[in-house]
Amino acid sequence: MKQAKYISIQEAIDLVKDNDQIIVGMAASEPQAFMSNLHLAGPRVKNVTVTNCLPFVYSEFFIEEKWRHNFKLDGWFYTGVLRKAHEHGNISFIPNHLHLAGKKRLYHIKPNIFVTTATPPDKHGFLSLSLSNVYEKETLLAADIVIIEVNKNFPRTFGDLEVHLSEIDYLIDVDYPAPTIPNEEPTEKDMIIGKLIAEKIHDGDTLQLGIGGMPNAVAKSLYGKRDLGIHTEMFTSEMVNLIKAGVITGKRKTLHPNKHVCCFALGTKELYDFIDDNPSVMILNGAYVNDPHIIGLNDNQVSINSTLEIDLTGQCASESIGPKQFSGTGGQSDTAVGAQNAKNGRSFMALYSTAMVKNPTTGQREEISKIVSTLKPGAAVSLSRNDVDYVVTEYGMVNLRGTNIRERVRLLISIAHPKFRDQLTKEALELGYIHELF
Ligand code: COA
Repeated sequence: MKQAKYISIQEAIDLVKDNDQIIVGMAASEPQAFMSNLHLAGPRVKNVTVTNCLPFVYSEFFIEEKWRHNFKLDGWFYTGVLRKAHEHGNISFIPNHLHLAGKKRLYHIKPNIFVTTATPPDKHGFLSLSLSNVYEKETLLAADIVIIEVNKNFPRTFGDLEVHLSEIDYLIDVDYPAPTIPNEEPTEKDMIIGKLIAEKIHDGDTLQLGIGGMPNAVAKSLYGKRDLGIHTEMFTSEMVNLIKAGVITGKRKTLHPNKHVCCFALGTKELYDFIDDNPSVMILNGAYVNDPHIIGLNDNQVSINSTLEIDLTGQCASESIGPKQFSGTGGQSDTAVGAQNAKNGRSFMALYSTAMVKNPTTGQREEISKIVSTLKPGAAVSLSRNDVDYVVTEYGMVNLRGTNIRERVRLLISIAHPKFRDQLTKEALELGYIHELF
């Protein structure tokens, strides 16, 4: 049995030694004090590896090139800070399906230190891991040393993320606000796509909404529905608005009825206030929540995600722009496959038909099609063409389930931006995807 003891941040940094494997909590649960002070160990340690996911903090140990021999960073999901630091920091991406991220990492390494954020202990000595249980609880149980940043500003949430003081070695008292992201207003294109998807969502469906602007916009189109449920990876601000409006009740769910199930929460202060001390929200282990078999136990499960680029056969490159890592697979494949495992389940991939990108030769921003004949060389396929179901742009919605390549080419070109359709058809002919014009 461990004897949790309060220490200072410097004392926590002093625990780090050469060749350590450190895993830290993700997204809003990132231990900010530890991460932003870890470089202080730099002058005396070498070859320390930190594994993280969806980080927000610009931590000196991976941003500053001078620490690249002291620290390595392995990331499960990139954000702006890792994209920026990838060029000069010692950073590498870990390919993963989110529900297996923790398990597979623990198979590969033994963590010496695990650090995350939690609420202060209650009168029984239990802390809540608060905003993320994707891999945190299972890693905590596997690590030699467990350090928790105890923060009274974090919501006390329920599920299976309660941890007792007897499972913790060290506590650090911290006082920063829980990181928030805004609940963005949808654009005109978002509204068109949102309405198209909303037409296919029925009263009583159970929803997963992915990361990015588009799934959030879809949520804003659901205000006419009744008795929707939540079984999702990420619990979002708009879900809270839908619950408060009586649209989401969870009454008709076939798995965990009346409970809003997720494995992490990220959003506004209002979201964190809503989930604080609220037993209707269950934050369960990501290995369970995102398991496609478990997702499929929800009848009428709907998954809504977004992609950066889709080819004419249906392969979705959602996490990289060519070889450049942009984000991660996260739960995209878990949730799309899981939804299709469900009785009457559906999966939607929503994207704008075009993107504005910088031309590397001219330096000018230009409009390109996100529906392409072949993915950019080096692009990572996040959702296989075998698993893609509905695809939606501002030009319409098509269903690729069970279709052949010829049909896919026709369907996907029909929802591409009109100015790219002739070129896409020409390329499909050249590639032998089709043999004649349709
Ligand atoms: N080629 C080059 N650049 C492209 C592009 C393409 N085909 N498509 C988009 N981009 C650029 C955009 O222009 C934008 O650049 P900017 O930041 O300079 O403006 C950037 O990529 C991001 O695009 P955007 O459409 O705004 O992304 P988003 O924030 O809505 O996120 C994903 C979209 C696909 C990256 C995000 O949903 C994701 O990471 N998905 C994978 C994980 C997942 O789905 N998990 C689901 C369970 S939570």
